[in-house]
Amino acid sequence: MINDLKVARRSAGWSQTTLADRIGVDAQTVKRLEKGVGSMENLVSVMDALDFRLTGIGPGATLAEQLRSRRRARSLSLGKAASLAGLARGTVTSLESGRGSVASLLRLLAVLAPQARRRAPERSYWGQADKQDRDSRFTPSVFMKNIYAAFGEVDLDPCGHLLSPVVARRRILLSEGGDGLVDTWSGRLAFVNPPFSELLKWLRRAHAEWVAGHVATVVCLVPVRTDSAWFHDELSPVADIFLLKGRIRFLDSSGNAQATPFSLMMVTLGATEEQKMRFAELVAGFWLARGG
Ligand SMILES: C[S@@+](CC[C@H](N)C(=O)[O-])C[C@H]1O[C@@H](n2cnc3c(N)ncnc32)[C@H](O)[C@@H]1O
Repeated sequence: MINDLKVARRSAGWSQTTLADRIGVDAQTVKRLEKGVGSMENLVSVMDALDFRLTGIGPGATLAEQLRSRRRARSLSLGKAASLAGLARGTVTSLESGRGSVASLLRLLAVLAPQARRRAPERSYWGQADKQDRDSRFTPSVFMKNIYAAFGEVDLDPCGHLLSPVVARRRILLSEGGDGLVDTWSGRLAFVNPPFSELLKWLRRAHAEWVAGHVATVVCLVPVRTDSAWFHDELSPVADIFLLKGRIRFLDSSGNAQATPFSLMMVTLGATEEQKMRFAELVAGFWLARGG
């Protein structure tokens, strides 16, 4: 686990000094932590900064809580866990409060959760394939059936593809010289599963076309990426957002299905309460309260 810390820092593109600055310690502290020397408090700060979470321990919002729930799940008293790890009982109590040395923490983890390892970091991109392939993943019919059932027939797919199973009265196709970022949108319902590498551009376009009244309702299926100021300031006050439970298996151009390596949400503009309710009956997840 400690070895993975250095890997995580490097894959974030950070030097020890950058990481140290972020958590308000000196670079020497980070250097020592990467050798397993230091305090649990600093280790937890580093883990938070790197979005480094452990899996294989147990439930809990913090590492300390995870330790406690793991010990309890294994029906070990504080004294028993301490003696198995070769630690004092008080040390285990401290660790379960988030205090102690990294060395003690590692000894306790080795006893309580020898399988503990870094949880795979969530990726917000498709990974290895080239950009064009990554941006051409098609919404499967099984999901589209829920869209049609809840929102009705799709009038417009502004970023369509000849191989896509999405049924829409009008498709804007790059291959036919169309451009969904330029051509005027039209119809009652637009369904948008955009190239994820240009997510914000497409959400902005969807919003602009909806505000202009060119489409009555827009349903966008996109990765859960919510960090832009525009998303918070302009979109969230007028959008209804549904967080999907689980992931969708999109199709590539060879017809192979692959689940997204990231979480998904639906951003809808102009959806009625009835449509939203019907969708939530059909698809696992929930509608967020309106922001803004
Ligand atoms: C993620 S795929 C989704 C296809 C389809 N909407 C679906 O849900 O199955 C996005 C598609 O947008 C197309 N695309 C990219 N830029 C575009 C643009 N400016 N105008 C129209 N289509 C575009 C790409 O060809 C790609 O196939």
